[in-house]
Amino acid sequence: MTAAVFRSPSIIHYGAGALEQLGPTARELGLRHVLLVTDAGMVQLGTAGKAQQLLEAADVRTTIFDGVQPDPTLANVEAGLALLRQDTCDGIVAVGGGSPIDCAKAIAVRHTHPQPLPEFAGVEQFPLPGLPVIAVPTTAGTGSEVTRVMVITDTERDVKMMFASRYCLAAAAIVDPLLTLGMPKGLTAAVGVDALTHAIEAYVSRRAQPQTDLLALSAIRLISHNLRTAYHDGSNLEARSAVMLGAMQAGLAFSNASVALVHGMARPLGACFHLTHGISIAVLLPAVTEFSVGAAPERYARIAVEMGESDIVSALRNLNRDVNIPSLRGLKVPEDRYRALQGKMATDALASGSPANNPRLASASEIVELYQKVYAEGA
Ligand SMILES: NC(=O)c1ccc[n+]([C@@H]2O[C@H](COP(=O)([O-])OP(=O)(O)OC[C@H]3O[C@@H](n4cnc5c(N)ncnc54)[C@H](O)[C@@H]3O)[C@@H](O)[C@H]2O)c1
Ligand SMILES: [Fe+2]
Repeated sequence: MTAAVFRSPSIIHYGAGALEQLGPTARELGLRHVLLVTDAGMVQLGTAGKAQQLLEAADVRTTIFDGVQPDPTLANVEAGLALLRQDTCDGIVAVGGGSPIDCAKAIAVRHTHPQPLPEFAGVEQFPLPGLPVIAVPTTAGTGSEVTRVMVITDTERDVKMMFASRYCLAAAAIVDPLLTLGMPKGLTAAVGVDALTHAIEAYVSRRAQPQTDLLALSAIRLISHNLRTAYHDGSNLEARSAVMLGAMQAGLAFSNASVALVHGMARPLGACFHLTHGISIAVLLPAVTEFSVGAAPERYARIAVEMGESDIVSALRNLNRDVNIPSLRGLKVPEDRYRALQGKMATDALASGSPANNPRLASASEIVELYQKVYAEGA
């Protein structure tokens, strides 16, 4: 066996009711005044308020920053940082989907690095640790609560910057499926297929390792067997719990084994057409898998077995259909602009580095062909 490293947060509370551990966890980490990073949706749903109560009950002061946009921007990070410094917070609690969690992780490392964030894009570019982050996910999707990855959008260049660093790992994750019961159907579907994609890409990645294989296969099983129920019957706690555990395991897997071509192609697609991360992933997954399957037939066959299916590509198409993932045309992505931007998207995809982990390496022109094929699928 070749040598490998596996990194994860040192504390993970998970399962229904895990949120109750928020206050004690902040105390365990020695925090006295945290910046609570969240978004308007979480404030409206009362989840941010609940987290604030639990922290204050444990004698941890809070300053709320609820200005995170879906797909957080550099400006969101700087606004949160200013508030953190103004109130001299000693740590961060993130409550929300991948957007508040990524923004929190970015604020935490930005605090200890004076240079602009874009200088650290890529793999292991931060020289120093940031402030401790406790991540409380409310979507069962990105796995950001357990990954060393964060994605921040540079709105001036229309680029989703990817940062992967040991210093972008949360200190603690609190993964409570009760927080996902109210997720709307469209969000459940998109983030669920994103999580499944993390597991699939981690399993076929050139950097897969025994420890990530175990988690990826478990995640594939949990998500593929429960996502339809979570989608159609959102209050089903058993299905919600299974999908959320799967999403977390998928996060641990891809954080250590990396994602591949689907993610490489999805980031520029989302940035250019303002599609959510989950949707950009879901529309690409079947066609990109079809492109890759011949390069790792045994691995893809094993994934199909875990899903209880015989053919991986049709299994993925069926799942998308069953949870009503729209097509690019259905999403009103204009064909002329899409064609005009294919070349830029392919260049940005390759530049992110993720496609280099794919079992079948794709050239820029093959990536353009794949983008075309995905558009034509929705015709
Ligand atoms: N760091 C990583 O490892 C990683 C991995 C994949 C994706 N991402 C990033 O994560 C972001 C996407 O995160 P996301 O898909 O979790 O969504 P999100 O955080 O962008 O949230 C989308 C919307 O859903 C709402 N929402 C969240 N939880 C809800 C709930 N339980 N009930 C009702 N509404 C709820 C939010 O208020 C928001 O309006 C993207 O920026 C993507 O690039 C990061
Ligand atoms: Fe993803």
